[in-house]
Amino acid sequence: QTDAEHKFSDQPEGGEYHQHAEGGERLTTAQGVTIADNQNSLRAGAPGPTLLEDFVMREKIFHFDHERIPERVVHARGFGAHGTFECTKDLSDITRAAPFQEVSKTTETFVRFSTVAGSKGSPDLARDVRGFATKFYTDEGNWDLVGNNIPVFFIQDAIKFPDLIHAAKPEPDTGYPQAQTAHDNFWDYISLTPESMHMIMWVMSDRAIPRSFSTMEGFGVHTFRFVNREGKSTFVKFFWKPHMGLQSKTWNEALKTNGADPDRHRRITWEEITGGMPPKWDLCVQLFDQDFADRFDFDVLDPTKIIPEEDLPPEKVGTMTLDRVVDNFFAETEQVAFCTQNVVPGIDFTDDPLLQGRNFSYLDTQLKRLGSPNFTKIPVNAPKGCPVANYQQDGHMQTEQHIPGRINYEPNGWGEGPREDPLEGYTSFPQTVQGEKRRLRPESFNDHYSQARQFYISQTDVEQNHIRDALVFELSKCEMEAVRVRVVSHLLNIDEGLARGVADLLGIPAMPKPAPAAQPTRQDLKE
Ligand code: HEM
Repeated sequence: QTDAEHKFSDQPEGGEYHQHAEGGERLTTAQGVTIADNQNSLRAGAPGPTLLEDFVMREKIFHFDHERIPERVVHARGFGAHGTFECTKDLSDITRAAPFQEVSKTTETFVRFSTVAGSKGSPDLARDVRGFATKFYTDEGNWDLVGNNIPVFFIQDAIKFPDLIHAAKPEPDTGYPQAQTAHDNFWDYISLTPESMHMIMWVMSDRAIPRSFSTMEGFGVHTFRFVNREGKSTFVKFFWKPHMGLQSKTWNEALKTNGADPDRHRRITWEEITGGMPPKWDLCVQLFDQDFADRFDFDVLDPTKIIPEEDLPPEKVGTMTLDRVVDNFFAETEQVAFCTQNVVPGIDFTDDPLLQGRNFSYLDTQLKRLGSPNFTKIPVNAPKGCPVANYQQDGHMQTEQHIPGRINYEPNGWGEGPREDPLEGYTSFPQTVQGEKRRLRPESFNDHYSQARQFYISQTDVEQNHIRDALVFELSKCEMEAVRVRVVSHLLNIDEGLARGVADLLGIPAMPKPAPAAQPTRQDLKE
């Protein structure tokens, strides 16, 4: 008897083995029952109808049928990796946030890069904003820095986000275009939303077609607060600066790559990490106080504005190295749940109305996407740097019961169980709040063109031509003449040469008037 014949000797009658039973683990059902035949369903006769009692087949197909979860409503296409952040500057006088307490201190991280508009299967080199979301597993809980590769955003208030995304995603009747922004709905919305003009300049620039994830910058976008042990607050903006430098593709290159290798970005990052060239970024911060903020004509709480790096150079405070790929794409990259609301002692929010709305949106969508309030138990989401102890219990997919015995409330007189800690626990910065309850955009949020112009004129001639060509490409895909004309009317407020160049190449016969410099307020309309 040969080895092969021996291994097959206990083959059930009529059965067929594709894999022998010896060596390795036994194949089981989810209930732990060893499976004898994974190739043939249980039938009455041969072939004969399949029997309802075939729990092996039904369980296998049932589980397969439920493999998919909803993709993220935005940023569906992503790539994740593990890393380490090392502090290079002690910031303990500015913040009590754990990662910044001493030089050389390391904190584990998980990063997910993404495109915004495309679906999970869309190509990597779409012209789009890239997400750059980092989870810091700190000694005092998880801190998520949920940023993008562009330092500003399209809108100033979160209430606009559903409209922006509806307009950017495939149109609801045709179901296309999939991953590009070149269509009427998007440009119609943008042309009616002047606050988006600064962001539009960045999105039409080469920044929106990064060469790889490792050659793009990251930005926290909003102004956050650092708070030190004495309770003093300092405004902070976050930046990731890539060690490989900033590099982009040209549009024609991107189009070819999307066809030939739509997984380009994820493949490069996987190969960099597994090939011993782990990508690295420096974390830099702009730190400033209210007096400094008051010097500017714009509001530092307006997410469509930057604080120019010439006015306040970002200061390096650490380096992140991404050095471990995921074991499983679904378990880690798909199930990771970032949320701007995840902050740790020493980090706090500001009154940026976009940030305030984001703080609601992420947790809310994740309950839908991951299906249970217990998604914090999924290993990629669970804190690694500190214990978790609370009285949250039950719910869908509860995988552990960490409350021993009868005590599931606080305060309790049993002298057991976790207690609040007024000294070391998270305390919000005691900001003074006053004012009428109104839906009013502050006047300091009203200038939509100055920084768009500054960005445009800071570009080289070649880069300016790329912006013009991108606008022409995009707008040439719009059927509505009125949309094209409206966009040109905004461009006139940014740079006349750009506006004329775009209008000529689009064949717009007469130049429109510039768009009004500021949007009328509700009060203006009433008067
Ligand atoms: C997802 C960044 C504005 C809602 C994401 C992700 C990033 C990001 C990086 C992907 C996270 C991941 O990889 O899992 C930003 C930035 C913004 C911004 C930098 C502006 C500065 C907003 C606003 C809202 C919003 C205003 C809603 C009001 C969402 C939602 C997701 C998401 C619902 C999907 C989250 C999930 O399913 O896990 N965002 N976003 N974002 N964002 Fe934003």
